Amino acid sequence: MAIKDIQDEIIRLKKENDICILAHCYQTPEILEVADFTGDSFALSVKASKVENKTVIMCGVRFMAETVKILSPEKKVILSNSSAGCPMAEMMDKALIEEVKAQYPDYTVVAYINTTTELKTVCDVCVTSSSALEICKKLDSDKILFIPDINLGTYISKQLPEKEFKLLSGGCPTHARMSKRDVLKAKEEHPNALFLVHPECVPEVVELADYVGSTTGIMDYAKNSDNKEFIIGTENSIVTHLQLECPDKFFYPLSKDLICHNMKATTLVDVLNCCKGVGGEEVELDEETRLKAKKSIDKMIELG
Ligand code: 13P
Ligand code: SF4
Repeated sequence: MAIKDIQDEIIRLKKENDICILAHCYQTPEILEVADFTGDSFALSVKASKVENKTVIMCGVRFMAETVKILSPEKKVILSNSSAGCPMAEMMDKALIEEVKAQYPDYTVVAYINTTTELKTVCDVCVTSSSALEICKKLDSDKILFIPDINLGTYISKQLPEKEFKLLSGGCPTHARMSKRDVLKAKEEHPNALFLVHPECVPEVVELADYVGSTTGIMDYAKNSDNKEFIIGTENSIVTHLQLECPDKFFYPLSKDLICHNMKATTLVDVLNCCKGVGGEEVELDEETRLKAKKSIDKMIELG
């Protein structure tokens, strides 16, 4: 079957079966083309609470599908490929965070949304890369225990010197792998390019950026800028999407290794199979866990 035929079949099936397809912007162009809504983690979370269809297919990683289920328990929520997890989300468990909380009882626990549902049950508020600064600023507390991403936590803490931060050393293996050397090399090869970076990269990389932001933040910045060349310091799918959207500009990956294999696990055929009811994994959550986790996501949407 040709790509276009598979896409047409997906579009037919989703209408017939009252399905909404949500896709994170790290997905491939052929998946984004059949999605009803695409965006960064924050935009997808907000959308997840508003979807009206009976079934939601999440093309992304597990914690994103769980977020949809937490916010819309009455819906059938399907993770497009059951092997798509986020290593950062699974880095820390509830027991560890409870232990750390006991050491810092007066700290507000701020969790990057890239965490498991179980971990969210012991956190006060979730944040995403695009909402973290605003939410940490708005919190009444000036003592913040930020988990699990030390790089995002460092980036936010530097902008809020009036608050005290405790950070744990987790992070995204894909972004954290980028080094200052990668940036200097890319800048040398493309001296006229602006460097746009995701805050999951290490501080030495972030410090060299012309713009720091979420995936959609980076895309919007590049689209609206008068500059013609950009080095993209986030997952390489963003380079592809920007090339398609702005063919008169030039986009260079910070490194050919900036690929999240989990985000890339989903194929167009996986999406087709989900629409047929023969693929993916239906997300099931225990109700007590869901309700506890929901508080931290509700708070994020309220403050963000
Ligand atoms: P965004 O908040 O930019 O969507 O980030 C999601 C993610 O997994 C980045 O690695
Ligand atoms: Fe997780 Fe990093 Fe992949 Fe994002 S890019 S889903 S944080 S592993």
